[in-house]
Amino acid sequence: MSRRAALVTGGSRGIGFAVAQRLAAAGYDLTLSARDASALDAAADRLRAAHPVQVLTCPADASDEGDVHRLARAHEGIHRRLDVLVHNAGMGAIGAFADYPARRLDKLFAINVRSAYVLTQDLLPLLRDAGQASPRGGRVIAIASTTGIVGEPLNSAYGATKAALISWCETFSTEESDGGVSATAVCPGYVATDMTKGLAETVPPESMLPVDDVAEAVVGLTRLSRRTVVPSLVLTRPGRHLWRA
Ligand SMILES: NC(=O)c1ccc[n+]([C@@H]2O[C@H](COP(=O)([O-])OP(=O)(O)OC[C@H]3O[C@@H](n4cnc5c(N)ncnc54)[C@H](OP(=O)(O)O)[C@@H]3O)[C@@H](O)[C@H]2O)c1
Repeated sequence: MSRRAALVTGGSRGIGFAVAQRLAAAGYDLTLSARDASALDAAADRLRAAHPVQVLTCPADASDEGDVHRLARAHEGIHRRLDVLVHNAGMGAIGAFADYPARRLDKLFAINVRSAYVLTQDLLPLLRDAGQASPRGGRVIAIASTTGIVGEPLNSAYGATKAALISWCETFSTEESDGGVSATAVCPGYVATDMTKGLAETVPPESMLPVDDVAEAVVGLTRLSRRTVVPSLVLTRPGRHLWRA
C-alpha cells in the first residue's frame, strides 16, 4: 500500500497550514494549494524539512473552475490516492445586507462553496477507493463557521456560504458513507489568523480560538474509523454567547 495522501486547499497559512503540519507529522503525503505560489513553496519547504513526506504544491485560485480541475488532476497524477480532502480555502467579506453587492455574493459562493463541490466531484473516485480500502475510509472536511449555523449581523453572504457547506456535507454523507466516505463541516467561531487581524480592536486575538486547536480537531476526525460519521463539529469560544463567532 502507498502512504495515505491528503489535499488541503488554502494550505499555505492559517488553519490550512496548521492542518497540513499535523497531517505531515502523521505520515500523509500532501497536496497544498493557494493562490500565492511563493507562500506555498515556503510552506512546503517547512513541511519537507520536518517530515519525510512528499509535498506537491499547486497554485490555484478557487474562484476559477479551470484551476480547480487542474488541482484535482495534479493531485491524482502525483499521489494516485486520496484519503483526506480538506476544503479550507475561503474568503470572508462582511457588509450590511441592505447594500451588499450581489457580485460579491457570487464570488464568495464560487470560492467557499462551488470550488469544494467541483473538487470533490473530480476526486470522488479516489475517495471511494479509500472508502473501500482503508479502515479509516475517505474523509472530506470543510471548514465552515458558526456563522453558517446562527445568523450574525453583516454576515448574510459569508454565513450563507458556510450554511451551504454544512448542508452539503450532510447530504454528501447520506449518499456516500455506506461506501466508507463521509464529510464533516468544522464550524469554528473566530480563530486568530490573518483573516481576523482586522478585528483585533474589537475581538482581541487572545480571546479567539487558537489555530492549533482547530487543526487538532480537524486531524482528530481523520483518525476515526469509517464506521463513524460526524456531520458537523462546532468549536466555540468561552463566554455567554455560545453560538456567536
Ligand atoms: N479565522 C477565522 O476566524 C475563521 C472562523 C471560521 C472559519 N474560518 C474559515 O477557515 C478557513 C481558513 O481561514 P484562515 O482564518 O486560516 O484564513 P487565512 O489565514 O487568511 O488563510 C486563507 C488560506 O486560503 C487561501 N486562499 C484565500 N483565497 C483563496 C482563493 N481564492 N483561492 C485559493 N486559495 C485561497 C490563502 O492563500 P492565498 O491568499 O495565497 O490564496 C490561505 O492559504 C476559511 O474557509 C475561513 O472562512 C475562519
